[in-house]
Amino acid sequence: MAHQVIRNTIVYFSPTGTTRTVAKSIAQGLAINPREFDLTLSTERTKTLLLDEAEFVLFAFPVYGGRLPGLVREFLVQLPKGRRPVAAVVVYGNVGYGDALLELYDLCVNRDYEVKAAAAFVGEHSYSHVLGRDRPNSADKESARVFGVGIRQTLFGNWAVAREALARGPKSQLRNYGIPPSVNFALRPHACEACRLCVRNCPVGAFQNGDPKIIDPGKCIACAACVKLCPHNARTFADDDFLDEVAMMVASNAEAKRPATFLPPNLPEYMG
Ligand SMILES: Cc1cc2nc3c(=O)[nH]c(=O)nc-3n(C[C@H](O)[C@H](O)[C@H](O)COP(=O)(O)O)c2cc1C
Ligand code: SF4
Ligand code: SF4
Repeated sequence: MAHQVIRNTIVYFSPTGTTRTVAKSIAQGLAINPREFDLTLSTERTKTLLLDEAEFVLFAFPVYGGRLPGLVREFLVQLPKGRRPVAAVVVYGNVGYGDALLELYDLCVNRDYEVKAAAAFVGEHSYSHVLGRDRPNSADKESARVFGVGIRQTLFGNWAVAREALARGPKSQLRNYGIPPSVNFALRPHACEACRLCVRNCPVGAFQNGDPKIIDPGKCIACAACVKLCPHNARTFADDDFLDEVAMMVASNAEAKRPATFLPPNLPEYMG
């Protein structure tokens, strides 16, 4: 169905910032100045996302254990239903995106949204500075911008992404990749300057009484924002088994993966 789009919104969750960068590069290609709905902090997630009829929405989320983060899923299932065009995007740490894109597709279709385009981009892995180092890099950002140009064209035509295009193999069920690992952290007390950047940027308020020294393991979703955003590298991962697992992931995913985009074939030349 062709859509008369009257407003555009980008909705993202991005504890370590790579998904946000990809979403903004896509928005550049869409040539829109979108409304942003950033789900990263819990204060934002409690707000209601009101959507106009025929509003275009770009959803962009990181991959956690080959699926979407649980709190993203919880947010999506309560969105207003309606026949509106959307694009589904996931960002993963150069290991694999599993069934996350398919899961996002299904959640959109369950809200009656029409998925006009889909993509998986690569971002530096939350647990490593080597895996997907510095991605999205300039080539990724350009791919994201071009993808945005493509999305814009899909809005004027009847194209929508078919589920079969995303479901690699004959599966209708989403695979369960297991819950994200629980992660232990160590704080180097002399390095910490008590700036509380980690506390302010924790997506789930896991620091007890706002104290950067105490993380509530029952709340922590292991997003690694408190490690990656610390300006003094004061927080580290502290579990040998976990670090061994990360080292194995790094060793077996040395090759840089390329963005995967799902758009109509033979898009007409972009008319701006
Ligand atoms: C709990 C957790 C699980 C993850 N699982 C995967 C995965 O299955 N495959 C992968 O390639 N990257 C995985 N990653 C890495 C993130 O998908 C990737 O680094 C992404 O760019 C992070 O997005 P952000 O910068 O917006 O937070 C995982 C990260 C976390 C924190
Ligand atoms: S961001 Fe780093 S320096 Fe600031 S309070 Fe947290 S651990 Fe300490
Ligand atoms: S405490 Fe846990 S949830 Fe909060 S920023 Fe650190 S890793 Fe993420």
